[in-house]
Amino acid sequence: MNIHSLIENPQFYGRRRGRKLSKSGQLAIKYGIDYFIKEEEISNIFNYQKHIVLEIGFGDGENLINSAKINSNFLYIGADPFLNTTAKCLIKILKYNLKNIFIWPDDIRKILKFFPDDSVSEIKILFPDPWPKKKHRNRRLIQNEFIRTIYPIIKHQGTVTIATDHDLLKKWVLEKFQNYKEFEWVVKSSNDWRLRPKDCFQTKYELKSINQKRKPSWFVFKKK
Ligand SMILES: C[S@@+](CC[C@H](N)C(=O)[O-])C[C@H]1O[C@@H](n2cnc3c(N)ncnc32)[C@H](O)[C@@H]1O
Repeated sequence: MNIHSLIENPQFYGRRRGRKLSKSGQLAIKYGIDYFIKEEEISNIFNYQKHIVLEIGFGDGENLINSAKINSNFLYIGADPFLNTTAKCLIKILKYNLKNIFIWPDDIRKILKFFPDDSVSEIKILFPDPWPKKKHRNRRLIQNEFIRTIYPIIKHQGTVTIATDHDLLKKWVLEKFQNYKEFEWVVKSSNDWRLRPKDCFQTKYELKSINQKRKPSWFVFKKK
């Protein structure tokens, strides 16, 4: 069985659209359309780039945009199915004229099968929806099947960084990755997983969490 075919028809439960797009949001979608990747073009991206960062659920794009601005020699692929945040992100991509970003405006699980093996250096998943109710746990992005699917596409020693402020999800994420022995949890001190890694920028959800006196955790898993 092809490991990439594990997530064939994912059911997406989050929001696809919010309020009517602002005028600038509508213009950004119109003029930023070239930043959208098409399924059939995905494999072409990997021919010429060495360090590829995949950010899943980029939200308003604070981390994606700031990272792409400072690392112009890296290629960023951002995925988020929520149109309003995609529009916000495109406004910034156009404003800064960034040439090292592609956007997949949909569920990441639909395109993982097109990623070649050993192609991605880093995956970032910052504050994924926690789906806290037990009956909704299957809606969480991080599942055994998801980890099995991303494993082959990550380069040797490549990393997956996951931030969350939700206690239940913290346990869930740790348990899922620690059960998957081919990943190692990177902890250098007893406290470093409570601090945002140097290569991540503050996002809207991190700020929200700090304002509401919750404690974000940052888990970095390395492919052995
Ligand atoms: C709670 S928000 C966090 C946004 C941002 N990372 C931040 O920290 O502010 C979670 C985001 O993940 C996106 N998302 C949820 N499921 C996804 C999936 N399967 N593929 C890509 N993005 C997804 C949602 O649309 C939403 O924008």
